[in-house]
Amino acid sequence: MFAERTAWSMDPNALTVALEQEKQAGADILDLTESNPTRCGFDVAGEKLLGPLSVPANLSYQPCSQGLRTAREALCRSFLQRGVKVAPENIFLTASTSEAYSFVFRLLANPGETVLFPQPSYPLFQFLADILDVRLEPYPLRYDGKHWNMDLDILSRKASSAARAIVCVNPNNPTGNYVRKDQLHLLDDVCRCFDMALISDEVFYDYCFETAGRASLLGHPRTLTFTLGGLSKDLGLPQMKLSWIVLSGPEDQVREARRRLDVIADTYLSVNTPVQNALEAWLTLKPDIQRQITERIVSNRAYLEASAQAAGLGIYPAEGGWYGVLQLPPGKSEEEWVLTLLERGHVLAHPGYFFDFEEEPVLVISFLPLPDHFRVGVDRILALAATGGARVNGDAVS
Ligand SMILES: Cc1ncc(COP(=O)(O)O)c(C=O)c1O
Repeated sequence: MFAERTAWSMDPNALTVALEQEKQAGADILDLTESNPTRCGFDVAGEKLLGPLSVPANLSYQPCSQGLRTAREALCRSFLQRGVKVAPENIFLTASTSEAYSFVFRLLANPGETVLFPQPSYPLFQFLADILDVRLEPYPLRYDGKHWNMDLDILSRKASSAARAIVCVNPNNPTGNYVRKDQLHLLDDVCRCFDMALISDEVFYDYCFETAGRASLLGHPRTLTFTLGGLSKDLGLPQMKLSWIVLSGPEDQVREARRRLDVIADTYLSVNTPVQNALEAWLTLKPDIQRQITERIVSNRAYLEASAQAAGLGIYPAEGGWYGVLQLPPGKSEEEWVLTLLERGHVLAHPGYFFDFEEEPVLVISFLPLPDHFRVGVDRILALAATGGARVNGDAVS
């Protein structure tokens, strides 16, 4: 009865089962995977968020495939503050960044065609590709001892006439590396050679630890480019469901992309009117919200770095984003480590294999949790790492 593309294994994995058991047993789990900003104690003035939703304009409906022009103009002004001039005609609003990917994949790829994707990266993308009948071909990110970099040689070798686009997650989740200015020419060359487009996922772009050399593809002129962003990370407001696609590139290609994307977006009209009317007011909250989130991730990252170093463990230094990647001692698999941390330390972290890391064992943790929780969680991980996972002081959670 069902399409093959939906034949996913729905069996809970060992970590999900163990987590459920710990919760049933009443354990108080420190969740270092938490990356929902609405659960991380940021101070967002309720009336400033909810007030703009209560306007008479929300009583009427004006269907607009690209999204209301006033909302797109407000976004253009915020891009201008970053020094990038974008025309409202080149913006499409969507309900989420995942939806934005869906529209762009549908625009570019026939069933079975390929999209080149970074590895390691965020697991959501495999589901998107399955649903949209697109094949993901990973291109590796390599760590050179200081930075993660796209392996451009392999990327160019993987490009072919069946590849329709290169996705750059900029900065990547979870390795935190940005596209670098000196990589743009090669990306353009590869795209030109095989008639491919660039998709730059910039949801974390503003959360940056190291600005030198990074390049945004917003407004990138040389290749047909779709730059994605959204309120879920930009303003820490995933509940508001508003994202965008910004088109740029050679004018004839942009015009054709706009024409076709318009039909896709018009078929769904998925963005609700109240969030579009509120966008302009919400964007004024951005400096305050981003300051709070940035302070949090900077302080948690500094704690992880110092503690891991003192414990003789490595972390991969991220240039941006919300995540840290910690290298664990060898001798146990990632699955054994995350189960041990959960059962003996009552700490939840992601195993690196969720993100397709080649090197094992690594843990991915979110920098968003409240510092008190984060620090206790990191201390427990490091204490268990020091004993190779054996109980610390004979206690489940000492
Ligand atoms: C890199 C990246 N892109 C896109 C998304 C999806 O964002 P949205 O919540 O706007 O769909 C996520 C979610 O965490 C993400 O990490």
